[in-house]
Amino acid sequence: MPYENILVETRGRVGLITLNRPKALNALCVALIDELGKALDAFEADDEIGAIVLTGSEKAFAAGADIKEMAGKSYMDAYLQDFITKGWQRVSTVRKPIIAAVNGYALGGGCEVAMMCDFILAGDTAKFGQPEITIGTIPGAGGTQRLTRFVGKSKAMEMCLTGRQMDAAEAERCGLVSRIVPAADLVDEAVKTADRIAGMSRPVVMMAKEAVDAAFDTTLTHGLMFERRLFHSTFATEDQKEGMSAFAEKRQPNFKNR
Ligand code: CAA
Repeated sequence: MPYENILVETRGRVGLITLNRPKALNALCVALIDELGKALDAFEADDEIGAIVLTGSEKAFAAGADIKEMAGKSYMDAYLQDFITKGWQRVSTVRKPIIAAVNGYALGGGCEVAMMCDFILAGDTAKFGQPEITIGTIPGAGGTQRLTRFVGKSKAMEMCLTGRQMDAAEAERCGLVSRIVPAADLVDEAVKTADRIAGMSRPVVMMAKEAVDAAFDTTLTHGLMFERRLFHSTFATEDQKEGMSAFAEKRQPNFKNR
């Protein structure tokens, strides 16, 4: 399917989506979000794909929602269109693992989309921020909620109230990103990581993802119960039998459900 604002390719069992609106630093216009949703739907439906990587350019993962597109919206437009929720949420509802590979700016909606992914790998040039306050608005795609859960109240509050950006080193220190790699190696490293995940049992990967996600939404008691139930269900899979037999037999597992 031809896209205008994104590039889509497969690398083995990994689906790679590259935001590609260089003239606007990958600002997330409606058309781009629509295309991103379609590409995610296609990878989600494709049995050959075990994990997804979402990236941008060396200069920008994405510099936010498209300011020029939204500038003239009325309250009623925003409310009736459920502006920012519609379409964007698709990133956070993907059931296959999705890694954000961030080089350059991940600002506003860019930071929010990266945080909707399962984890963020950062190039050493990455810069994260929620600068909405500097243009007279606030984050509208989860920035006040997800950033606070990632980095704690003090830092999230400072970033949302001042628009200050954090560099990759600070983002790693405070747990926003899982690790930093040289910018030039970022996409290859993200694909390698996604490929490793795609080599595991897909249902078990999905259960692990669901269990970690539950930690954001529930009490410890309920989260532990949910984890235990999913843990029990892994014992109903052929892949658990294969994984544990392979360990005992000192060989690599050959998971059937990948
Ligand atoms: N929307 C629309 N266009 C944007 C954009 C955005 N978010 N960010 C950059 N662009 C455009 C610029 O207007 C410029 O276009 P022209 O050449 O046609 O003028 C082009 O991209 C290049 O940008 P700059 O010349 O500004 O590049 P720079 O290197 O000097 O600065 C930057 C880079 C610091 C990222 C700067 O572009 C910037 O501050 N961008 C806006 C960041 C921002 O405020 N993001 C939050 C948006 S609101 C939001 O996301 C709401 C939400 O919660 C969902």
